[in-house]
Amino acid sequence: MNIALIGYGKMGKAIEATALQKGHNIILKIDVDNIDELNNENLKKCDVAIEFTTPGNAVKNILQCFDAGVPVVCGTTGWLDKLEEVNQICKQKNGSFLTSSNFSIGVNIFFEINKFAATLMNKQKDYNVSLEEIHHTEKKDSPSGTAITLAEQVLQQIERKHKWVNSATDNTEDLEIISKRIGLVAGTHKVKYSSSVDDIEIIHTAHNRQGFANGAVLAAEFLKDKKGIFTMKDVLGF
Ligand SMILES: NC(=O)c1ccc[n+]([C@@H]2O[C@H](COP(=O)([O-])OP(=O)(O)OC[C@H]3O[C@@H](n4cnc5c(N)ncnc54)[C@H](O)[C@@H]3O)[C@@H](O)[C@H]2O)c1
Repeated sequence: MNIALIGYGKMGKAIEATALQKGHNIILKIDVDNIDELNNENLKKCDVAIEFTTPGNAVKNILQCFDAGVPVVCGTTGWLDKLEEVNQICKQKNGSFLTSSNFSIGVNIFFEINKFAATLMNKQKDYNVSLEEIHHTEKKDSPSGTAITLAEQVLQQIERKHKWVNSATDNTEDLEIISKRIGLVAGTHKVKYSSSVDDIEIIHTAHNRQGFANGAVLAAEFLKDKKGIFTMKDVLGF
């Protein structure tokens, strides 16, 4: 598979190593110093593009891939307010698109566990639910995209919570997300149910970026010859 890497930072480099190990070729590498090379002529030579850049640049890069007719896997977080618009454009252009706030297989299993726990807890009004996420100090968005996905899953099930807030709160209708930025932490997410008699915590701890890179390459292999909009649930067959 011939891959375009858009964004050659921490994730771009981890994805390159994984893709090469799996026998794929990286035939286009784009970062801020060669942005003019992200054009239709170069993209058309690729089977799939993998985009991990910054919240302010992701949409433009994704649309460029749709223009070139190249399937695009996007891992950049912090731009999801534009997701509906991007999905519409993908449909209009008959494109191929897959995005996820987290490509790790473990986190996607964690998402399913989170939904199930929230379903059980909807009627257990003695429990408060809160979220915590910890990432490295270079992370640009807060809360993390993964924490937002977890929070939205909880809000869909637990009727006593109405919206998430990214701070400590005493309002029992708000779902608290505490974001911490510490050292080189790859990504820790905790969902905690707390009552006066006990606590239940579900925690996912990424040991490094390898899990995200593995999932992103798996998603690219899945998307390569498909048309339409997909998620990691499709890739993993959940
Ligand atoms: N979905 C997931 O599983 C997952 C996992 C880890 C990180 N992320 C997200 O992926 C994104 C990238 O993370 P990272 O750790 O690699 O960050 P990073 O800062 O190490 O790398 C981002 C790279 O993008 C480059 N860049 C900026 N603007 C660009 C543009 N217009 N075109 C091309 N390249 C551009 C930067 O120069 C940098 O090298 C972040 O939004 C992060 O939150 C998602």
